[in-house]
Amino acid sequence: MKILALSGSLSGSKTYTIIREAAEYAKEKEDVEVELVNLSELTVQFCDGRDPSKYEGETAWLIRQFIEADSFIIGTPIYRGSLTGALKNVFDLIPNDALKGKVIGFVATGGTYHHYLAIEHQLNPLASYFRAHIVPGGVYAHNDHFTSGVLTDEDIHHRLRKLAHSVVTISQSLKDHQTALEQPVIPRQA
Ligand SMILES: Cc1cc2nc3c(=O)[nH]c(=O)nc-3n(C[C@H](O)[C@H](O)[C@H](O)COP(=O)(O)O)c2cc1C
Repeated sequence: MKILALSGSLSGSKTYTIIREAAEYAKEKEDVEVELVNLSELTVQFCDGRDPSKYEGETAWLIRQFIEADSFIIGTPIYRGSLTGALKNVFDLIPNDALKGKVIGFVATGGTYHHYLAIEHQLNPLASYFRAHIVPGGVYAHNDHFTSGVLTDEDIHHRLRKLAHSVVTISQSLKDHQTALEQPVIPRQA
């Protein structure tokens, strides 16, 4: 199973730190391959409404990662009570069906605890738009959970691990279910 773990911050390190931790927890499960992506290391074009297949360079590469992934762990710093513009641009770039039937776990970081519900009212609706399955228990971490840039809060570690494992387990169950639904090939009698 291929998981795309993406941090939607262009400057700081906290979101990337928790996305990287979640990616490590996902890898504790069998047969998991993680593509860990830090948006700040890519040059991504603005979505201008063209067909997603017409983008080039790192934009095209990123779109392809979304299409090829089975499931996602996606994180954003909270900017003005919502996701970053950079991450919203990524959601605007990908094809409409890139997330359909796939599984997403969301994480977010903020300066304080004030915007912990942003996952519920800003990120989950995006996943719904794309008809993706949202893993319950998105993780919100803020400044008090970090010490000198290191995630030191044990509860957040525990919840990240649970989220990452759930992404893998739910995605695998959906795949198994899909396989079970496929019609058996019935050989024709001569
Ligand atoms: C433009 C801007 C807007 C922000 N808005 C909020 C906000 O609405 N609520 C909040 O809790 N933190 C806000 N913050 C703080 C960041 O969400 C917080 O520092 C975050 O952990 C940064 O993540 P990063 O280190 O991955 O970039 C804002 C920061 C910036 C730069």
